[in-house]
Amino acid sequence: MEFSKDFVWGAASSSYQTEGDREGRGDSIWDEFCERPGAIRNGETGEFACDGLRRYREDVHHLKQLGLTAYRFSISWPRIFPEGRGVPNQEGLAYYDRLIELLLKEGIVPHVTLYHWDLPLALEREGGWRNRDTALAFADFAGFMAQHFSDRVQHYCTLNEPQCFIGLGYGTGEHAPGATLKGSELFTCAANALLAHGLAVQAIREASTKSVQVGAASTGKLCYPLHNTVENQAAAEAASFQIDENEWWFSHTWFLDAILLGSLPPAMQALTDCIPSEDWETICQPLDFLGINVYNGIQVDENGDYVERITGYPRTSLKWPVTPQVMRYGLRWLYQRYHMPMYITENGQASNDRIYLDGKVHDLDRIDFLHRYLLELRDCCSEGVPIKGYFHWSLTDNFEWNNGYDERMGLIFVHYPTQRRIRKDSAEWYAGIVQSNGRLL
Ligand code: NOJ
Repeated sequence: MEFSKDFVWGAASSSYQTEGDREGRGDSIWDEFCERPGAIRNGETGEFACDGLRRYREDVHHLKQLGLTAYRFSISWPRIFPEGRGVPNQEGLAYYDRLIELLLKEGIVPHVTLYHWDLPLALEREGGWRNRDTALAFADFAGFMAQHFSDRVQHYCTLNEPQCFIGLGYGTGEHAPGATLKGSELFTCAANALLAHGLAVQAIREASTKSVQVGAASTGKLCYPLHNTVENQAAAEAASFQIDENEWWFSHTWFLDAILLGSLPPAMQALTDCIPSEDWETICQPLDFLGINVYNGIQVDENGDYVERITGYPRTSLKWPVTPQVMRYGLRWLYQRYHMPMYITENGQASNDRIYLDGKVHDLDRIDFLHRYLLELRDCCSEGVPIKGYFHWSLTDNFEWNNGYDERMGLIFVHYPTQRRIRKDSAEWYAGIVQSNGRLL
């Protein structure tokens, strides 16, 4: 069995995690956060990362060699507007022009994400996501980029995982800018992100001359059933969208209900006052697709209770559980709730990969992970859920935020001291799956 003929196979990355070249741009909140003692494992930073800005040709070459037809990457806002707004940095623009032209020349479709967490530091000084003006500045940036790329880019994600940049960035403080807000203060940041999304969708559509596909990349809790009964499935579906009080931010629902259904989930009604009523129309814009970043899920029983994981359950080096069933069930629940075509904008696993004596990187655990997840994805598609494509996270190893460089998630190994790239075994395996459009799974 194969995926649909027009199924898109790609890989993904983001600006701060890969580009390096700090001098060529304004500072972002991550530059400052990385200087905070103890914030990042081993005190590492994204200052040089994978030197992607200079080595993008090599990376595109790998994409091509692997037979991938789409590349998801993000634009560094402070590389274009070092102060968040104002005069654009021509060198920054020229970099993305070069990258996009090369991709198009190689027949690889650019999928551009406009916000993958590197907020210009200058805007954080004005309150960052606490400040409504950040939403307005983001819309200006989005419109500017869409106009600039209008003849070349047709796929945009506005925000990447607001669950994380709000929840971890302004709630738990594990991510930049490291704030620990609570209650309505935290939700106001979320409300500003919702507004930013809606305004950006409008700005992108207005600025584009060709037809564009606009969406956003969401993540959050998803559940799958212990038993395959109707009752247990219903319980897993309900549990997926239930808000956990102290972790409301790690739900798909606050974000997707708002932008697609135009309301907040019932459990969050108390926070409705944080969103001015006149904003709702802007927040809830028609979208073309939903991006879903999916890594793992939670098993629940017929009562909707979480099932305890077995002793020694399979997990990745980040200790995230390996739960391929989330692909089949979680995506089905999302489709039943939102009725949107979806891209898997991220999926993959972290390992402590290394170069073996033979000079190769044998990452069997990643192959096993992908095999299991893609089988479930294929089943999900065959059940009629409209999945348009799959982007492996990530193309190359990169800066895994507060976990630094220890955790490797790429198809391509990066030897950081030399920046040498080595295609892992999983890359070759993935290329075979892509070439057969999933038949070889
Ligand atoms: C989600 C984020 O979008 C990405 O930046 C991160 O590296 C991966 N998940 C893995 O944690």
